Amino acid sequence: MKVVAATFVKSATEAAHYPPPSLPEVAFLGRSNVGKSSLINSLLGVHGLARTSNTPGRTQLINFFEINGELRFVDLPGYGYARVPQAVREQWRPMIEGYLRHRAALALCVLIVDARLEPQSLDLVMQDWLTATARRFCVVATKSDKLSRSRLAARLTALRRVYGDRVLPYSSLTRAGAELVWETIRSALVD
Ligand code: GTP
Ligand code: MG
Repeated sequence: MKVVAATFVKSATEAAHYPPPSLPEVAFLGRSNVGKSSLINSLLGVHGLARTSNTPGRTQLINFFEINGELRFVDLPGYGYARVPQAVREQWRPMIEGYLRHRAALALCVLIVDARLEPQSLDLVMQDWLTATARRFCVVATKSDKLSRSRLAARLTALRRVYGDRVLPYSSLTRAGAELVWETIRSALVD
């Protein structure tokens, strides 16, 4: 997809504040600091649109972005960061679950995992949850630039054993893998 316009729409914590469900949405989820916001920026080719950080827990709201007036990207707060205060963590679960469970406009979930790591327990919980709620999803294994070609191939084999063929390698640094991720998004939008 040729991105001609990508803009921040708004942040929300609850359904009453979401934008109207007038466009199909692609939601990005994953553990804190895994690279969700970087993936959004690099897919759109807009530096700094979604706030990125070395500090886990940067994205604490649901952020909506609109692309070409055709679809929206939704940056969800990361899960699993122990150092975030308990009170904040307790708000995250209903915030993420509420969106994933009830949002009718949601066409595709992109579960982002670190290409270097074994499947993490919270990611497996999320996969089970997406399966149980019958949400369409793919798995993007990001930070692939941090691995040699042969290490990456081995890691992908291991990840596919757990997540199936829906695993797509990606690097927000080099944009390697962007075509396939866009292809997956496009096909989710047409059916
Ligand atoms: P939270 O919003 O805190 O949950 O984090 P996030 O998942 O949005 O992660 P973010 O995009 O802020 O990235 C976290 C860190 O990882 C930043 O320092 C990024 O520069 C780095 N990073 C993200 N993706 C990649 C990648 O593909 N390659 C490399 N080398 N670094 C990456
Ligand atoms: Mg973020």
